[in-house]
Amino acid sequence: MTEIRILPDAPSLAQNAARQFSALAAAAIQARGYFSVALAGGSTPQALYRLLAGPPFAGEVDWRRVHVFWGDERCVPPDHPDSNYGMARLALLDHVPLLPENIHRMAGEKEPQQAAAGYEEELRAFFEARRLSSPCFDLVLLGMGEDGHTASLFPGTAAVREQERWVVAHLVAALKARRITLTPVILNQAAQTTFLVSGAGKAERLRQVLEGPAQPEQLPAQAIHPQNGRLTWLVDEAAVSGLSR
Ligand code: 6PG
Repeated sequence: MTEIRILPDAPSLAQNAARQFSALAAAAIQARGYFSVALAGGSTPQALYRLLAGPPFAGEVDWRRVHVFWGDERCVPPDHPDSNYGMARLALLDHVPLLPENIHRMAGEKEPQQAAAGYEEELRAFFEARRLSSPCFDLVLLGMGEDGHTASLFPGTAAVREQERWVVAHLVAALKARRITLTPVILNQAAQTTFLVSGAGKAERLRQVLEGPAQPEQLPAQAIHPQNGRLTWLVDEAAVSGLSR
């Protein structure tokens, strides 16, 4: 099931995302004793993470039962200004009582292929220990770039077509940078996937993704279609200004 929630602006988008996060965490923890979430990088989710770090949300979530993963990471050390882990740590992780062993960081400082292989092993161990037949995150948060990329699945990269591996490391030619990313193989197993897309700069690309022909290799955000889960687009009015309906 796909839904599009249009919020007036970026702050209300972050509020809506925080309420969804809190509700999903409560339901998952009540049902199975833990909540697994894959965080997005970039600037849009930062407002969400800061909201979750303060009242009322910080007090609503049983953080000791939350497992945090990442959808992608830049190949930099965790204290580098470009690190997605570093951004989440400053905005959220340092402010809530997560257990250190429940913070599953992608090792951006390591040799990328080894880091990707190691992360896949960590994911397999996590989901096997919970006797889940598939790697089903309770929530995957994603952003979308102005080129239609999501996580670090960039247009024209083989990662978009990956059919076996859950995690790959690759050189993103457009950025002249290496990235580690979850692939659609695992991303599309999530129970709930939520895109956070804000701003007029994304409007034309969002129209192509939502209303245009299927071309996931050029528009990797189109490669995200949960097999059994729910897909929610949290967008603001500026970002949907290009949609025809
Ligand atoms: C990253 C993200 C990336 C991001 C988009 C949108 O590592 O940068 O994972 O996929 O979500 O680039 O970024 P903004 O939210 O900053 O527009």
